[in-house]
Amino acid sequence: KRIAVLKGGLSAERDVSLVSGAKCAEALRIKGYDVVEIDVGHDVYDQLKAADPDVVFNALHGEFGEDGRIQGLLDYFGKPYTHSGVTASALAMDKELTKAVLRTHGLHCPEGVIANRFDAAKTHLLKPPYVAKPNDRGSSVGVLIVREGANRPPAELASDTWPYGDEVLIETYVPGRELTVAVMDGRALGITEIIPKTAFYDYEAKYSAGGSVHEIPAQVPEAIAQEAREAALIAHKELGCRGLTRSDFRWDEAGDGRLWLLEINTQPGMTPTSLAPEQAAWSGIGFPDLVAWMAEDASC
Ligand code: DAL
Ligand code: MG
Repeated sequence: KRIAVLKGGLSAERDVSLVSGAKCAEALRIKGYDVVEIDVGHDVYDQLKAADPDVVFNALHGEFGEDGRIQGLLDYFGKPYTHSGVTASALAMDKELTKAVLRTHGLHCPEGVIANRFDAAKTHLLKPPYVAKPNDRGSSVGVLIVREGANRPPAELASDTWPYGDEVLIETYVPGRELTVAVMDGRALGITEIIPKTAFYDYEAKYSAGGSVHEIPAQVPEAIAQEAREAALIAHKELGCRGLTRSDFRWDEAGDGRLWLLEINTQPGMTPTSLAPEQAAWSGIGFPDLVAWMAEDASC
């Protein structure tokens, strides 16, 4: 089978995707597939036509690659592709909309308000502590934590060089521990606790080796682990996701004791420091097998 691996792209997570894509391409070659790597640009349709693949492996992250836009184009292209389709991708990329949908399925998601970044820079729209972040980006780019007692919102929000669009999500900060669950083939692969070495699990901590410690399985009570696994399965199913996803949580252990779902990632990172492949490996599925399953599971 000839597989086109889409990587790079136009998003703020371009560099992450270049690494994800290279790793996936390498694994697919190990599995014997004929692989063409495409560094996605504005001419992606021509690039796809020239590659003429049987299957498209979408290793893009972030805007254009994870938000339904490339998925719509791939539907026109007519070849099976990995991960979720248009609607689930677009929905999951919108963090506030995702939470609104998932609350109707009984999941706990932190309160949030959508605002223009200039308005959010003028006055606190929620009582600190809260998080200000782009509503539709990934890899923690642009995430700002506003601590309790902060006098004013972060000035970065009104900066001329803010690159993440004008729509921001102002969300209640959930203290506690960071947990994540990957879902593949209708099952939760495991549960990981992320213990960042920096103040929180930011871009740097995500992609530098040793930037954070991943505890797998997370040392949490079985009831919390089970709730997280079930919530990840509900999120995956109710949003209509396909292939591999990863849901991120915070557990307010010392406060209200609740498990809060922050978001679901429809194109989880596939880099050497990424969480979903690590959970797959922990559950007995090595990286090449994971990637081959994704390629075989591709649909359109
Ligand atoms: N957005 C990054 C790639 C992740 O979710 O892993
Ligand atoms: Mg994300």
